[in-house]
Amino acid sequence: MRTDNLKTPTVALGTWAWGDSGETGNGYFGSHLTQAGLEEAADKAHAAGFTLWDTALVYGMGRSETVLGEVLKRYARSGYQLSTKFNPRIARTSDDPVADMLQQSLANLGTDYIDLYWIHNPADVPRWTPHLIPLLKSGKVKHVGVSNHNLSEIKLADQILGEAGFRVEAVQNHYSLLYRSSEQAGILDYCRNQGIPFFAYMVLEQGALTGRYSPENPLPEGSSRAEIYNGMLAQLKALTDKLASIGLSQGAAAPDVATAWAMAKGTTPIVGVTKPHHVDGLARASSITLTSDDIAELEALADAANVNTRGFWEQEM
Ligand SMILES: NC(=O)c1ccc[n+]([C@@H]2O[C@H](COP(=O)([O-])OP(=O)(O)OC[C@H]3O[C@@H](n4cnc5c(N)ncnc54)[C@H](OP(=O)(O)O)[C@@H]3O)[C@@H](O)[C@H]2O)c1
Repeated sequence: MRTDNLKTPTVALGTWAWGDSGETGNGYFGSHLTQAGLEEAADKAHAAGFTLWDTALVYGMGRSETVLGEVLKRYARSGYQLSTKFNPRIARTSDDPVADMLQQSLANLGTDYIDLYWIHNPADVPRWTPHLIPLLKSGKVKHVGVSNHNLSEIKLADQILGEAGFRVEAVQNHYSLLYRSSEQAGILDYCRNQGIPFFAYMVLEQGALTGRYSPENPLPEGSSRAEIYNGMLAQLKALTDKLASIGLSQGAAAPDVATAWAMAKGTTPIVGVTKPHHVDGLARASSITLTSDDIAELEALADAANVNTRGFWEQEM
């Protein structure tokens, strides 16, 4: 049934924080983003060849998709790829909540197809996975993946899709130096063995691993990410200092090294860019070489920080 394979980039662009932009938004990041700033970031990304944009209907409850759709109007639709998600947790009763939610995403994004459509979380895999099949057949969705699923849920979704001639083409989970549950649970190995791209989200832990934020310069007051991370920043200093020192030796910065670490582990990081200069970091990350000693030292410092960054929406893997 499948016509072409999913083309996996070295890095994808995340836009959860874009749901904060403008007058509304959910204030999760406390970011102050402008249309002009995001257009500049997008122009830089496209010039550098980063063209896979990840969003979700629930990011700012449609706001991230709408802002992204507006920004991407300046490019030909064939020049970028859109990744967005069906969320079982907000599904209402209708004949087909998945098709309905896809329709909303298409309208928000101003397009008639999604390159990569995800089930955002594993609430009732046997119930929701089959709904992807008619969407794939119709061409409104080109490829499908599952997010926040554990190994047995990934296998079950793959089996359900397999019976119709399709498959799980990508997995998207939280994976960072501070949060390696997908590796520990064997999901990275499974994906590698099956040839399934693993997309790592929150490799920068929403800014906490960039070295920009510290107890003296915390994440924006009143934001959800501040509540989660501000109390950990002191414990993260040894790790972010090490990221910075490895970066210094290669003309790069701490967040570039955190991103390069995820690439070195065989994943495709989805990085939440909010400023044009973040795109320069992605280009640098792609050319950083990390030795096995670097990786071991970073992981040891991450373990020593002894923090738990599991998102409230995530399950144990
Ligand atoms: N499937 C899921 O359940 C799920 C869950 C979470 C995320 N995601 C996806 O993964 C993406 C990434 O996660 P995220 O956005 O939550 O967090 P993230 O990528 O870990 O961190 C993003 C934050 O880091 C800062 N930043 C980004 N690039 C930087 C750079 N080069 N240098 C310095 N700072 C940089 C920005 O903060 P400032 O604005 O403060 O500078 C930005 O808001 C999301 O946007 C979303 O697409 C998926």
